[in-house]
Amino acid sequence: MTKNELKKMAGYAALEYIKHNMIVGVGSGSTVNYFIDILSTQKKLIKGTVSSSIASTNKLISLNIPIIDSNNVDNVDVYIDGTDEFNPDLMMIKGGGAALTCEKVIAAMSKKFIAIADKSKKVTILGNFPLPVEVIPMARSFVSRQLTKLGGIPKYRENVVTDNGNIILDIHNLNIINPIDLENKINSISGVVTVGLFANRAADVVLLASPTGVEKLLSKK
Ligand code: A5P
Repeated sequence: MTKNELKKMAGYAALEYIKHNMIVGVGSGSTVNYFIDILSTQKKLIKGTVSSSIASTNKLISLNIPIIDSNNVDNVDVYIDGTDEFNPDLMMIKGGGAALTCEKVIAAMSKKFIAIADKSKKVTILGNFPLPVEVIPMARSFVSRQLTKLGGIPKYRENVVTDNGNIILDIHNLNIINPIDLENKINSISGVVTVGLFANRAADVVLLASPTGVEKLLSKK
């Protein structure tokens, strides 16, 4: 089975969580694109979607799926998003597609956070995937120096500007033993907009696709 076939299985499996009149948070990335495809079959059932990126918004519009401005809702009933890595506590690295800030806001607004993943995303310790950090442009060098002090090797992601007009630093060579501590430390650096470590707000469920089917992993919290 190809990776794309597994992503499609995970994306389609998330439809189980979509119920009548819900406000649905929609993440970003190739796995979520499959979810958006299947969500289009239920677009009359839901109240609307809150989108995490320009790319997802464009796909939702192309399929005539209703979109609601995040400022006009108190919360989202369920948030469906992909992940770059997740650990046994369902903490994640996200932001490979540079949409981490809006994704984190919607995760914080969500009553239930469902991550959809193919089996390659499952790890024991986070950090093999370079950790994305969204930074305001004038703080790039300062933040890089602070991230180096934390033990990582930050690399500027060339030719990428986020939907919010910022840049991305990807931190290589991390072995994230205490994700909550690292998330809090990076968040406290001046000039950092968001770190793509989703530890304080981890997923509630991971739908994990492998050739034998989609496994449902539940948060132990
Ligand atoms: C987007 O910024 C990311 O957080 C994505 O959710 C993540 O990179 C997963 O992407 P894929 O579904 O394309 O692997």
